[in-house]
Amino acid sequence: MSNYHIKHLEEYYQVYRKSVRNPEAFWEEIAEEHFLWRKKWDNVLSWDFKKPEIKWFEGAKLNITENCIDRHLATRGDKTAILFEPNDPNEEAQHITYKELYKRVNKLANVLKDNGIKKGDRVCIYLPMIPELAVSLLACARIGAIHSVVFAGFSSTALATRINDSDCKLVITSDGSYRGKKTIDLKGIVDEALDDCSGVNTVLVVNRINSEISMKEGRDQWLQPLLDKASESLTATVMDAEDPLFILYTSGSTGTPKGMVHTTGGYMVYSAYTFKNVFQYKEDDIYWCTADIGWITGHSYIVYGPLANGATTVMFEGVPSYPDYGRFWDIVEKHKITQFYTAPTAIRALAKEGVEHVEKHDLSSLKVLGTVGEPINEEAWHWYDDNIGKKNSPIVDTWWQTETGGIMITPIPFSTPTKPTYATLPFIGIQPALMDEKGKEIKGNQTDGRLCIKFPWPSIARTIWGNHQRYKDTYFSAYENMYFTGDGALRDEVGYYRITGRVDDVIIVSGHNLGTAPIEDAINEHPAVSESAIVGFPHDVKGNALYGYVILKETGESRNHDNLRKEINQIITEQIGPIAKLDKIQFTNGLPKTRSGKIMRRILRKIASKDTSNLGDTSTLLNPECVQDIMDNVL
Ligand code: WT7
Repeated sequence: MSNYHIKHLEEYYQVYRKSVRNPEAFWEEIAEEHFLWRKKWDNVLSWDFKKPEIKWFEGAKLNITENCIDRHLATRGDKTAILFEPNDPNEEAQHITYKELYKRVNKLANVLKDNGIKKGDRVCIYLPMIPELAVSLLACARIGAIHSVVFAGFSSTALATRINDSDCKLVITSDGSYRGKKTIDLKGIVDEALDDCSGVNTVLVVNRINSEISMKEGRDQWLQPLLDKASESLTATVMDAEDPLFILYTSGSTGTPKGMVHTTGGYMVYSAYTFKNVFQYKEDDIYWCTADIGWITGHSYIVYGPLANGATTVMFEGVPSYPDYGRFWDIVEKHKITQFYTAPTAIRALAKEGVEHVEKHDLSSLKVLGTVGEPINEEAWHWYDDNIGKKNSPIVDTWWQTETGGIMITPIPFSTPTKPTYATLPFIGIQPALMDEKGKEIKGNQTDGRLCIKFPWPSIARTIWGNHQRYKDTYFSAYENMYFTGDGALRDEVGYYRITGRVDDVIIVSGHNLGTAPIEDAINEHPAVSESAIVGFPHDVKGNALYGYVILKETGESRNHDNLRKEINQIITEQIGPIAKLDKIQFTNGLPKTRSGKIMRRILRKIASKDTSNLGDTSTLLNPECVQDIMDNVL
């Protein structure tokens, strides 16, 4: 028997040692005993971080949806697979059983096929958090189409960039979405995006808000009538373990977003195995992750990981503040949630509203709490522990990335003693390393450095869609024979890791990964702007907020600065989305630059954070005189 379910700390260490001593044998055993393969692999792992090339379970054949749905039908057919909680608390929750999910996925897969989608084609999914979203991912996977989910908070420009980058043929969207009291015209955003996407010939539209929308003849079709006619059965397409399952975009520090490519077999094994252990999932649990499926957290820990374990996974359409700030806790009580997984930014926002929203609700069903997306500060950690877990539910602070596909550093509840702000220990099979700036590994405890991973794990992204060179440059070039995460971390005296934040030009705002370059590009499109630089500064709810330094052209200098600020944020909203709006915009005459012309963000970051006691060495600056001026006018 393999160690599929770890129950105490000694077992963790024992399994961990086994997993790193002989990773191939370890993962082979897990894969063999807990998943359904049409054909077993010829080779467990081949890898070369120099190329880079990573292959897990090569030669194996499977379909991930047979693992997430079909194999549960005999034993759990009437169990709820997806529990849908609508935006409006008065609208009834939907319990979608495994049997129903099977039919819904097959129907949609048949509709996709009828519309010419074949194995390997890319399908863009731009939907709110409604059951059709999860069904769409699975329907693509059922026929071997590669899904590319775009978070429905992204703007039309951002959507168009992503559709074109991966050459999607078909888009699944809805007429609109509910967000608290508001409705959002999603179809309008799609229409605008598609003006720039000539490759899309079909748009399937879910009716969610019953709104009057325009349908483009020959391109747009309401989904429901097609589903009504579609067959409930379909044989899943047999995939190779290394066939792409999906593309998911993440921001880089420069240029266009990176379409991270995840493949089928390894991703399935790792997302399922981590889900089982990190949440200590048991058969009758009701698990809820509040993330959106538009992010990797939703892919791995709302859809694939839970369903591969035959779990009940909750999907929530709404927002934590509607109809009031007790909504999360109302849902926990109503559905007797056992595992609750959310973001530090949500915890901080709710903590601010006071415990009275919590106290009205019975949270005694909770067993495990989780956080993800950014470092959790000590205060938020204790608030979560005291008020939600009542000091009785371990908190798993899970560190991972879009690129890693699954959780990498985390406590295992009831095994690993937790420590506030520490993600604690590497998960089974994960070999972290801390590196110094010269490229040497720092051994021993009580140290800090740049976080790398030494050895492949099954769900590592295999490439960046259409740009393997960028994959190599971004992740495998900074340190020899290592995957570089872009994060800094420290290791304490017992070997626990604490993630200290990004060391590159990516800023995490409310748990959203934002690159500085695309935002600066957007700002620079304003006709009055000549140059700009973005940095993050500490924010008590969002973790980080964005601070922009903007140099105006002569034509802009006489303009009203508040109006300019609004216009700049408007452009950012149009190009990227409201999540990338700047909290503060300072107009300045110069930006500190090195002799090679690179902006010294380190200095700008310190000024924006009001931490100017030690600006570090400014002697290498080309224009040191601008620093004082920027400091004098800081907002
Ligand atoms: C970056 C990845 C993983 C899903 C959500 C974000 C930061 C993530 C933690 C954590 C400290 C964290 C890192 C990482 N991050 N989790 N528990 N503690 N930082 O995925 O958008 O790919 O962002 O989020 O900086 O590199 P992502």
